[in-house]
Amino acid sequence: METFNTREITKLIRYRRSLYPAQYSEEVIRKEIIDEILENALWAPNHKMTEPWHFTVFTGAGLKKLAEFMASTYETVTKANGTYNEGDHEKLATKPLLASHIIAIGMKRDLKERLPEIEEIEAVACAVQNMQLTASAHGIGCYWGSGGITYFEEAKEFFGLGEKDRLLGFLYMGIPKSKWPGSKRKSLSEKVVWIEN
Ligand SMILES: Cc1cc2nc3c(=O)[nH]c(=O)nc-3n(C[C@H](O)[C@H](O)[C@H](O)COP(=O)(O)O)c2cc1C
Repeated sequence: METFNTREITKLIRYRRSLYPAQYSEEVIRKEIIDEILENALWAPNHKMTEPWHFTVFTGAGLKKLAEFMASTYETVTKANGTYNEGDHEKLATKPLLASHIIAIGMKRDLKERLPEIEEIEAVACAVQNMQLTASAHGIGCYWGSGGITYFEEAKEFFGLGEKDRLLGFLYMGIPKSKWPGSKRKSLSEKVVWIEN
């Protein structure tokens, strides 16, 4: 059995932060790092080994394609259902262009539906955490965004997702141009109950 430096692992887990596109420089993340981030996603726990994750990576001119798709899909869907907001539309058309890479986070449902859908979603969330930790270890900023078109049925096909699959959001990534942010958490005692006898 191997042993690991838990002090480093704990430090990384607590160091990980969400960093947003406005905080990224124009520098592009090296391909080897993106590959490592994606490879580590594949090692997340998943029930019955369904490996339900499905990623689409956008970079370079791909980011423009993504921004155009996000903005136009948002416009079509929200103008039809009366929830259109000009500011939100503008954000979708411009924010993706500030990232180095964006990974669309998809869940592909087991064809035999051998487990509850929530477990497939949970496995993908674990995969996203692997990606966030790997990115943080490289000093790369990222955040999981679930706004905009994330839950629009009309968006799925563009990301290679079928009817039973789910789009869970987007992992925006970039090299930070400013200080790494801090955060805080509630105390353990507020979140944990021990039953000992
Ligand atoms: C499933 C999920 C969806 C999220 N969606 C958004 C989002 O749409 N917009 C946003 O600003 N942050 C989003 N976040 C990031 C959270 O805002 C962030 O994790 C939280 O503020 C805690 O900060 P930290 O990640 O730096 O610890 C999302 C996080 C998760 C896990």
